[in-house]
Amino acid sequence: MAVTAESALLEAVRAHPVPAHVAIIMDGNGRWATQRGLPRVAGHREGVKAARAIVRAADAAGLRFLTLYAFSTENWNRPEDEVTMLMRLLEESIYRELPDLMENKVRLRVIGRTAGVPLPVRRGLEHVALETRDNPGLTLLVAFNYGGRDELLDAFRVLARRVQAGELAPDAVSEADISRALYTEGLPDPDLLIRTSGEMRVSNFLLWQIAYTELWMTPTLWPDFGPSDLYRAIADYQRRDRRFGGV
Ligand code: FPP
Repeated sequence: MAVTAESALLEAVRAHPVPAHVAIIMDGNGRWATQRGLPRVAGHREGVKAARAIVRAADAAGLRFLTLYAFSTENWNRPEDEVTMLMRLLEESIYRELPDLMENKVRLRVIGRTAGVPLPVRRGLEHVALETRDNPGLTLLVAFNYGGRDELLDAFRVLARRVQAGELAPDAVSEADISRALYTEGLPDPDLLIRTSGEMRVSNFLLWQIAYTELWMTPTLWPDFGPSDLYRAIADYQRRDRRFGGV
């Protein structure tokens, strides 16, 4: 896409209120590589480049929160060598991105069962989250070893303990209590959920939080998804009429 077309799209998007929070299911790295006769990890490498460009684009568009689904609890079932390579790639990328995140004032936060993440990757994520925690710009949420039902289970366990301790009456449990017990505590629900590679599923992602989220699916594979695609998704969102179940 020519840079001028990209800047025109960005300008059009910025002329209207932008969604505060966009979440993305980045799918299709494997297929992108297979179509080119390359190993799947080559697709993941390109996927990291695409993610990098999208973080910058999200910042340029003025989003406050961007959530990227980097690794699901189900992804451990992939071939062992793919998981090993992916972990190595993600570990490398986290450290490499730190100077850029600082420069752009991006704050990193991780959601998921972090205790189950291999130690070198966990250390990297925790280090970058700590270094960037006071940055005032875009908040980048990386969902890692994340599963929506696990998140709900963890939240219900927190609430059950509070009930058992006598802090909370069962009938007093509110939606706000549940939201506060989720990994996304304190963050607004996504306004827009994007999924690449043509699948029409939510795949256990942010199940509670997407109750009223607008969905936007594209056949484009994640490594080919660029800033212009993000701006197009936002422009479509801006044309929609969100009613939250009302008329
Ligand atoms: C999606 O394609 C791949 C993933 C969800 C795994 C990891 C994501 C990246 C490497 C992107 C960069 C992320 C960050 C946060 C830097 P797939 O393997 O499911 O593709 P397929 O459906 O074609 O097999």
